[in-house]
Amino acid sequence: MKISIVGLGFVGLSLTSVLASKGKDIVGIDVDDEKCANIKKGISPFFEPELKKLLKIGLGKKLKISTDFSLIKNSDIIFVTVGTPQRSNGSIEISMIKSAVKDIGKILKNDKKNPIILIKSTVTPGTMQEIILPIIEKESRKKAGKDFGLISNPEFLQESTAIRDTKFPHVIVLGGYQTRYMKKAEKFFSEIHPNIPIVITNHQTAEMIKYANNSFLATKISFINQLSNICQKIPGANIDDVAKTIGLDPRIGKLFLNAGPGYGGSCLPKDMKALINFANRVGINPTLLNAVEHTNNKQIQNIIHLIEKTLGSLKNKHITILGTAFKPDTDDIRDSISIELIKKLLAKKVTLTVYDPKAMKNTKSIFKEKIRYADSISHSLKNSQCMIIMVHWKQFEKINDNSINIMKRKFIIDCRRVLSGKKLNSNYYAIGIGKA
Ligand code: UGA
Repeated sequence: MKISIVGLGFVGLSLTSVLASKGKDIVGIDVDDEKCANIKKGISPFFEPELKKLLKIGLGKKLKISTDFSLIKNSDIIFVTVGTPQRSNGSIEISMIKSAVKDIGKILKNDKKNPIILIKSTVTPGTMQEIILPIIEKESRKKAGKDFGLISNPEFLQESTAIRDTKFPHVIVLGGYQTRYMKKAEKFFSEIHPNIPIVITNHQTAEMIKYANNSFLATKISFINQLSNICQKIPGANIDDVAKTIGLDPRIGKLFLNAGPGYGGSCLPKDMKALINFANRVGINPTLLNAVEHTNNKQIQNIIHLIEKTLGSLKNKHITILGTAFKPDTDDIRDSISIELIKKLLAKKVTLTVYDPKAMKNTKSIFKEKIRYADSISHSLKNSQCMIIMVHWKQFEKINDNSINIMKRKFIIDCRRVLSGKKLNSNYYAIGIGKA
């Protein structure tokens, strides 16, 4: 069985590496020459635990990486995993997916195989029926359901656990018509993921499921963040105990109740905006979704307010930010709340030093010489008047009285309660813990 994967971002490259490492006949396609050249050498364009290892195993087997779309000819299965970034009005930019499926359609025209095309890219409801399907049918001069299969197959993997999530997804969603291709797809997934629930539905519902998933996760985060702000005003109250306990109620569940500076990353903020935009377009006022987003945007203001309350004017104050990635175990800084905070503090003329175990290179590419870059926690704290922990990297747990001795003023804002169990000789604030 030949499988092609078009678009080698987080989703595409994780899938490519997992399937190729099992010895399957895989072709990975991307339009970016440099990216493909690196992947061919076993260099991943981003840091993701376990990815490099599996990629190398795959490259030693049957994996081919190329910018040449014609290599997808004779595929049994074609996954489309290209990005759908955000437009300024919140809607999604679908030019990349349009161009990818156009190229696929052209190849299909002279292909003797009847492949199944699975769209993993996140698209708003109706995109498959109204845009993707007509493009492929027009370019290939073939009929979906008869000459090829077309299935919506949203992805739920998380960065930093992308490989584990690709190997062991919690669900497989297949949206489309009940054709022989759907039966084949169901068989394919039940073989590679035995015992994982497969939900078969139509295109629109599959597209909606993806947005429902991410917007619910964002809602959980904004909920706990709002409660954490309330806890902060109650001397001695602790949001982690609240979250842990309500999480024991199976109707609530314990995950995604970790309070912090707000949700970031390349997915939740973008998908929230796209769903809000979509709801407005179809005439539904998304009051709850708007509130979730508003609560998220406010979270960073609360941090700035806390710094100003203690330091007064921030002009020329030395502040250290620990963690610039959008979460631990990734070097991804796209839509990272920490990056947003840096921008806001720079506007207030703060002298900033940052440290992140993995994301320094990406951070430098944005701020260049506007901020200082430390190569360790201790270097980052020299002469600092305030330390802000933005991301829960494991190594930040080691911070102790010795590490902070080097600070000019021992003022700590811990957005992830990394140090809340320690009694540090400092003016310590943690999001979600009421100062006694
Ligand atoms: C998210 C979803 O979790 C995936 O299921 C989905 O497939 C993916 O988007 C996508 O659409 O591609 P990801 O962006 O990798 O995955 O990141 P998350 O782990 O969801 O974290 C998003 C943000 O929420 C981060 O800034 C994180 O720090 C924050 N977060 C998460 C919290 O503040 N508290 C939590 O309890 C959980």
